[in-house]
Amino acid sequence: MAASKKTFQRLLVTSALPYANGHIHLGHIAGAYLPADIYVRYQRLRGVKALYVGGSDEHGVPITLTALKEGVTPKEVIDRYHTANAEAFQRLGISYDIYGRTSWPLHVNTTQQFFNTLNAAGYIHTEEMELWYSPQLERFLPDRYVKGVCPKCGYTDANGDECESCGAQYEAHELLEPRANIPGDTSSPILRQSRHWFLDLPKFRDHLKTWLDSHPEWRANVKGIAYGWVNDLRTRCITRDTDWGIPIPVDDPDVANKRIYVWFDAPIGYVTNTRQWAIDNLNDENGWEVWWKDQDTRLVHFIGKDNIPFHAVIFPAMLMGQQDYILADNVVGNEYLNIFNRRTGQSEKGSKSRGNMISVRWAVDHLSVDAIRYYLCAIAPETRDSDFDWDEFMNRYNGELCDVVGNFVHRCLTMTVKNFDGCVPPADALEENDRAMLDAIPRQLDAIAEALEGFRFRQAIERFIELGRKANVYFDAMKPWVTRKTDMERTGATLYVCCQVVKALCCAMAPFMPEGAGKLADILNITLPKNGPDGGPDAWQEAITLLPVGSPINKPEALFPKLDKDQLAELAEAHERGEAT
Ligand code: MF3
Ligand code: ZN
Repeated sequence: MAASKKTFQRLLVTSALPYANGHIHLGHIAGAYLPADIYVRYQRLRGVKALYVGGSDEHGVPITLTALKEGVTPKEVIDRYHTANAEAFQRLGISYDIYGRTSWPLHVNTTQQFFNTLNAAGYIHTEEMELWYSPQLERFLPDRYVKGVCPKCGYTDANGDECESCGAQYEAHELLEPRANIPGDTSSPILRQSRHWFLDLPKFRDHLKTWLDSHPEWRANVKGIAYGWVNDLRTRCITRDTDWGIPIPVDDPDVANKRIYVWFDAPIGYVTNTRQWAIDNLNDENGWEVWWKDQDTRLVHFIGKDNIPFHAVIFPAMLMGQQDYILADNVVGNEYLNIFNRRTGQSEKGSKSRGNMISVRWAVDHLSVDAIRYYLCAIAPETRDSDFDWDEFMNRYNGELCDVVGNFVHRCLTMTVKNFDGCVPPADALEENDRAMLDAIPRQLDAIAEALEGFRFRQAIERFIELGRKANVYFDAMKPWVTRKTDMERTGATLYVCCQVVKALCCAMAPFMPEGAGKLADILNITLPKNGPDGGPDAWQEAITLLPVGSPINKPEALFPKLDKDQLAELAEAHERGEAT
């Protein structure tokens, strides 16, 4: 059981808002962005009213720490990376309807409304806390500003309140051997009192449990983490001692040097960006509400695994506290994409300090968009971590997309153009083999659709390749290049059938490889509808309606040019030299 049983009027999809403090890389893409984009493109093809919302996460310590280390203002950091990442996503074909910013003034409004509603309903209270403070800089050291030894596992690079190595969360005073993570601060941090605002998560326990219980179809990794949290809910601090963030909207002298915590405002960014989209596109200030408040809207979040508690517990609780918002119908959490190191033969985590990450801007400068998308979907880290491996990249792209699908399309269309005047040939005498191939088309498209509806993207792209394999088997068995010399009628029937498969391949590839699909549609003189938030015709259904005899076909060009060994070796070496970041 994969897809939800309920039927919906419209679909709202979100991808995690990446921090605007660095370039988006392929690890991000494989987790939260490519699967979401494939899903949305597929739903749009089906004519579903779909809205895909993304944007930058521009508050929090990740931003201010980057600014501090680079010696620039936080504003410079977010402007630079917001622009760069919006462009990188666009070049990779990630088809957001809006790519917004949490630094927009509109976002202050949305976030403060959320806060006020929760506050008025009694879900927010204040507590005194003991927090690390730098005597030298005379400032508090929230989150990553303080590092130390994990009290649970002994990891030496643990953060102020959580350990990235063992996942433990603890109180600030439990951290061992604290040190400030600010260049030039050599003082020893001390503990100091500070008053903060807390979200009363335990009050949402029953509601959260009922909601999670109603979604047995979610991925096991997401359910596991969500239930783990719900069975051990604690109040959560939603403010920080910083001046970079959204002001706390209460009349209280203590708010002066404090702001709302980034993890409170960031997911609200999905709402803000929907608001902005409605203003820009519908010229309607209230046009966003149907997307967030109508029970017939289906909300799906795509995220990496570290984001699971926020999307499957905390943000839903914040939405429950607003009363009139819908809750997610699915939270698609992905594992990590690691990097296979060819020198050591080992898989390693992508990390800034190692310089082994592959940025999207570098990747699209050196590789085709479809090749990147094909490989990342084929190895998507859905149920466990996977490795980016250059040899595998070439083998799978060349061996599957080029040799199976590209080659079939090319053979079929070249022969059709040459022998039948660039038109779909007549099919007067269809035989059993031909019918079997034609019958396989809708079955295979159903199988791809079923996998996509169930968020099994690896399986979906395998089933797409499988259609290509079946077509090659058919083509080789029918030998049109042989029958051509003796029996034009038979050859025509074979190529007629092949053209129908090519048309189906064109539609089926569109969610995964939009560039190849666009080129192929031009060759076939068909149009794939550009459905958007208003919905439209079901092109997936149309994919199985046959191309009429006599429809014109243009001279084919190679859809998926092969990668050669030398080219690949050069890229792998540049990556090893740390040039791909
Ligand atoms: N910026 C966060 C990260 O990179 C993700 C925020 S997702 C949102 O991990 F929901 F909060 F927007
Ligand atoms: Zn630890």
